[in-house]
Amino acid sequence: MNGSHALTDLEDPLWVKLPTGRYPIYVGYGLLEKPQCFEATLKGKKVFILSHPEIARIYLPSLEKTCYAAGATEVSHALVPSGDYHKTLETAANIWSALLAQGYHRDSVLITLGGGMINDLGGFCAACYLRGIKVIHCPTTLLAQVDAAIGGKTGVNHVLGKNLIGAFHQPQTVVADLSTLSTLPQREFISGLAELIKYGLTLDPPFFNWLESHIIEIMQRQPDALNHAVKQACQLKAAIVASDEKEEGQQRIVLNFGHTVAHALESILDYKQCLHGEAVAIGMIVAIRLSMEHNTVDGQLLERVMSLLKTAGLPTTLPPGITPAEILAKMKYDKKHGATKLNWVLLKALGQAFTTHATASHVIQALTATRVGTP
Ligand code: GLY
Repeated sequence: MNGSHALTDLEDPLWVKLPTGRYPIYVGYGLLEKPQCFEATLKGKKVFILSHPEIARIYLPSLEKTCYAAGATEVSHALVPSGDYHKTLETAANIWSALLAQGYHRDSVLITLGGGMINDLGGFCAACYLRGIKVIHCPTTLLAQVDAAIGGKTGVNHVLGKNLIGAFHQPQTVVADLSTLSTLPQREFISGLAELIKYGLTLDPPFFNWLESHIIEIMQRQPDALNHAVKQACQLKAAIVASDEKEEGQQRIVLNFGHTVAHALESILDYKQCLHGEAVAIGMIVAIRLSMEHNTVDGQLLERVMSLLKTAGLPTTLPPGITPAEILAKMKYDKKHGATKLNWVLLKALGQAFTTHATASHVIQALTATRVGTP
């Protein structure tokens, strides 16, 4: 494909527009080597890059070089093992200790280089360190490029549930370098497809139709298809974040479609057995079944979504051995729940999501229908 340069778009990034200011999302190929993406934040600054060993091995040297070219005065880094299992307060405390030991001050900048876990963890470290330092996210997974890196959600897991400790802390810039997807393991790449499908299902029927007809090109990581998919998802997310930055209204909560069950599953499985997108795929199926119990959508939509998820190689049934009762019990720690009621994001139609309460018996019914071997 000779279009990689044409796809790089430094002049015209997407913007997340907030009452307190705006920040760019750069999407394209080779961006980790472009100082222009970084210089507005890094000129004259001391920089700390947080990454994973396997990502750092490939991308850290060029990112460090880019930071210096963008005007950084000093660049150091810390590496943490990958996987949400390590996204804990203890890991965050180790990072704060490293920042303190190396004399990072209020004016320093933290850069995350990795997937959703490193975005959440690094964003949280930046939000709390000296009451807040600047952060730039360089997402290297599809999932982080289309979701985790945008919108300022940061946090760590608690033993009782996923992402229960955290803060909103918007990045200065998001640099989504699509070249990094070429080294992403297939299972992780596929996991990101679940979040793409979520955007189509909850917000954008034409995008859902486009995903159905281009799923093979996306899975082959064809640059034009990836570029369109990531940009469209980022645009949808940027608009939602602009309208409801801290999930205080009814807009941003929609992005949690499928996540009520997903977070419960991930926590029950100790973040080891199920990738986030895999859990979201299963969670979306449960949420569609629950929507069917509310008579808002029909079995035809369920069939379409099942078929798309299966083509993408995502799971559509609960992992064996996990009971509906176990999931229901875990869900009480979901952040969307009020003091007494379980809040759910369901579908009114393709591209239209809404929040509602669901009874425990309806939830058990939808979960039971999603067990392996259920017709
Ligand atoms: N991942 C959902 C959100 O950022 O709101």
